[in-house]
Amino acid sequence: MDLSVLNLLIEKTVEETLNEALRKFNLSFFKKLHLTQERINYAAKNLPALGRGLGRNVYAISNSKVLKVATSESGFEQNEAEVSIFTHNKDNHLVTKIYDFDPKYAWVISELVKEFGTEEKFQEVIGLDAYFLYTLLTKTEQDIENDIQKKQKELNDFMQSGMAEEEPWKIDQLNSSIRWFKTLLDDYQIIYKDPKIGHFVADVRNMTKTHNLDPSDVAYRHFGQNLKGEVKFFDYGGTEAIMKKHYSRIKR
Ligand SMILES: Nc1ncnc2c1ncn2[C@@H]1O[C@H](COP(=O)(O)OP(=O)(O)O)[C@@H](O)[C@H]1O
Ligand SMILES: [Mg+2]
Repeated sequence: MDLSVLNLLIEKTVEETLNEALRKFNLSFFKKLHLTQERINYAAKNLPALGRGLGRNVYAISNSKVLKVATSESGFEQNEAEVSIFTHNKDNHLVTKIYDFDPKYAWVISELVKEFGTEEKFQEVIGLDAYFLYTLLTKTEQDIENDIQKKQKELNDFMQSGMAEEEPWKIDQLNSSIRWFKTLLDDYQIIYKDPKIGHFVADVRNMTKTHNLDPSDVAYRHFGQNLKGEVKFFDYGGTEAIMKKHYSRIKR
């Protein structure tokens, strides 16, 4: 069979299966539920589950939308943060769209993405080492310039202190720190020279700063691609305040 016909058939079957699975779910009924446990039970019983987070359970509600149901106080707060970020940032193409939400933030309906899931996939699509993102978000070029100057001053002071002969290893240590920071600065330059990666990093940095997001929650595992293949940040409710309040003792 022609491969395109086969693909079409597979898609059609998947869509039919999904539609069949979704037929049992009544959104108006769901919206009227009062208790968290009722919402979780009803969604879990009638929708395909996509994932479970620290504050929300996520279900497919159509072939392009998901329902994120808060399961704890932090889930309500993250839903609220996402609604606020999305509505204040309508031109921000980086985050998943929000189509509908509960006025008390018990749930949001947002854009379906296929999560990257692995560091390798993130690196393949974005062109950036997944763990380097954290460094980029927590240190600006100016911070690194300052680090270099600080180490340079330490080195100069040490050389003049008369201790250099007694502790020569300290000179090597300081020089190696300076070298490391310079390498880091070079890496930043390389990244910013590539317009695709440069724009991505600038957008993520800007968003993290504007909304006080916890950089450790702005991680590769919270990015994916929507149906059009556009890169989307889908778990963007992790503000510093929320993460500190609920998860400061949990390693995420
Ligand atoms: N827009 C989405 N499309 C597809 N799956 C999603 C989407 N949002 C979340 N998920 C899935 O649900 C899981 C939990 O969602 P997440 O937003 O990380 O919740 P929490 O912030 O409460 O931890 C994610 O790890 C992912 O597997
Ligand atoms: Mg989160």
